[in-house]
Amino acid sequence: MLPPKPILFPSSSTNHHHHNLRFVGYLIILILLFPTLADADSNPDDKDSLLSFATNFPSLNWSATTNCCSWDGISCDDKRYRVIRLSIPGRGLRGAIPSSLQNLTSLSFLNLSCNLLSGPLPDRLFSSFNNLHTLDLSYNRLSGYLPNPLPTLQLLNLSNNHFSGTIQKDILQSLQSLIALNISNNNFIGSIPLSICNTSPALVILDFSLNDFTGNIPQGLSACSNLQHSISAKLLLPGNSLMGKIDESITNLTNLRSLVLFGNMLSGSIPHNIGKLSLLEKLELHINRLNGTLPLSLMNCTKLQLLNLRVNALGGSQNLISPISVNSQELTSVITNSVGSYLKVFSPANP
Ligand SMILES: *[C@@H]1O[C@H](CO)[C@@H](O)[C@H](O)[C@H]1NC(C)=O
Ligand SMILES: *[C@@H]1O[C@H](CO)[C@@H](O)[C@H](O)[C@H]1NC(C)=O
Ligand SMILES: *[C@@H]1O[C@H](CO)[C@@H](O)[C@H](O)[C@H]1NC(C)=O
Ligand SMILES: *[C@@H]1O[C@H](CO)[C@@H](O)[C@H](O)[C@H]1NC(C)=O
Ligand SMILES: *[C@@H]1O[C@H](CO)[C@@H](O)[C@H](O)[C@H]1NC(C)=O
Ligand SMILES: *[C@@H]1O[C@H](CO)[C@@H](O)[C@H](O)[C@H]1NC(C)=O
Ligand SMILES: *[C@@H]1O[C@H](CO)[C@@H](O)[C@H](O)[C@H]1NC(C)=O
Ligand SMILES: *[C@@H]1O[C@H](CO)[C@@H](O)[C@H](O)[C@H]1NC(C)=O
Repeated sequence: MLPPKPILFPSSSTNHHHHNLRFVGYLIILILLFPTLADADSNPDDKDSLLSFATNFPSLNWSATTNCCSWDGISCDDKRYRVIRLSIPGRGLRGAIPSSLQNLTSLSFLNLSCNLLSGPLPDRLFSSFNNLHTLDLSYNRLSGYLPNPLPTLQLLNLSNNHFSGTIQKDILQSLQSLIALNISNNNFIGSIPLSICNTSPALVILDFSLNDFTGNIPQGLSACSNLQHSISAKLLLPGNSLMGKIDESITNLTNLRSLVLFGNMLSGSIPHNIGKLSLLEKLELHINRLNGTLPLSLMNCTKLQLLNLRVNALGGSQNLISPISVNSQELTSVITNSVGSYLKVFSPANP
C-alpha cells in the first residue's frame, strides 16, 4: 500500500531541498502510522484479548499485524470496531478456557465446539457478556456445574461434555430468552425443573438426552408455548432414568417434530391422543416399560419417518391393532415390538 503521492506533495512547493525534507518527514510519519492505520477501525482491547487468548492455542495463527476483524473465525460489528463473533470449532484447542475471553464484552456468538477444552468454566466468564445470544461449547471435555446464567442467551449447547450437578431452578429463571437448550450427553442428575416453561417460555428445542435425570416428565412441559407453536419443536429426553407415565398433556405440544423418550423407565400406556401430534417425524419410545395397546389416533401422525416402540410391554390382540395404518409416505424406518404383527401393520411395503 503506497501513499498517494500527488495529494501528499503540494505542487506549490518550489524549494527542492525543502521538498525532499518534507518527503522524508511524511515517509517517517507514514511508516510509524502504518501498522495502526491498517488497524484503525478495530478495538485495540479486543485485539489484545484475542492475541492473549491465542497464546494458549498454537493452532490459532492470527497475525498480529493485521486487523483482527479479518482474522479467521472472527467477525466484527458493522463499524468494524468491536468483535461480536468468535467461531473456532474443531481447531484442536486444548486445555482450560482462558479468562482473556471475558474481555470480549461485545460477543454475541461464541462457538468453541469440537475442541479439547477441559476443566470447569472460569467462574465469572459469562457474566461479562452483555449480548451473548449463542453459546456452543459442545464436544469438549468441560466439567463442573452449569455456568452462571445469562439472560440474553437464546441458544445454549453444552452437549457432549462432562458437566454435572442439577439444573437449579434459579439458573433457568435467568435464561428467559432461551430458545434451544442442549445439554445432551453429560452427567447431569436430579429432576427436570417443573417450572422450566414458566422461566424459559421461548423454548423450542429441549435436548436432555443421555444424562441421569430422574423423576417424572413434568406436566409443565406442555405449557411451553413455543414447544406448542413453533414449527421446529423437539423434545428429547432419552437415555435417562425417567419414570412414571407419559402424561396425556404432552399431546398439547401439537407442533412437535421429534418426541424422543427411549431408554428410560417410563410406564403406563402411550397417550391416547398421541395423534394430536400430527406433525411428528420421529417418535421413539423404545426401551421403556410402556404397556397397553397402540392408540388408534397414531394413524393421524402421517409425517412419521421413524417410529420405534420395541422393548416395551406393549400388547393387545392383533384384532385391535390391525385396523391401524400410519398413512405416511415417508416412513423409512419402522422398528416395533417383537410382536411381529406390528411390522405387518405399519410397514408401507405391507399395508
Ligand atoms: C482484561 O481486562 C482486565 C480489566 O479490564 C485487564 O486487567 C486485563 O489485563 C485484560 N486482559 C486482557 C488479556 O486483555
Ligand atoms: C493458518 O492456519 C490455517 C489452518 O489452520 C491455514 O489454512 C492458514 O494458511 C494458516 N495461515 C497462516 C498465515 O499461516
Ligand atoms: C458450531 O460449529 C459446529 C462445527 O462447525 C457446527 O456444527 C455447529 O452448528 C455450530 N454451532 C452453532 C450454534 O452454530
Ligand atoms: C448444538 O445444539 C444446537 C441446538 O440444539 C445446534 O443448533 C448446534 O448445531 C449444535 N452444535 C453441534 C456442534 O452440533
Ligand atoms: C445437540 O447437540 C448435539 C451435538 O453435541 C447434536 O448432535 C444434536 O443434534 C443437538 N440436538 C438438537 C435437538 O439439536
Ligand atoms: C393440556 O392438556 C391437558 C390434558 O390433556 C388439558 O387439560 C389442558 O387444558 C391442556 N392445556 C392447554 C394449554 O392446552
Ligand atoms: C400397565 O402397567 C400398570 C402398572 O405400571 C398397571 O397398573 C396397568 O394395569 C397396566 N395396564 C395394562 C393394560 O397392562
Ligand atoms: C384424526 O384427525 C382427524 C382430523 O383432525 C380427527 O377427526 C380424527 O378423530 C383423528 N383420528 C383419531 C383416531 O384420533
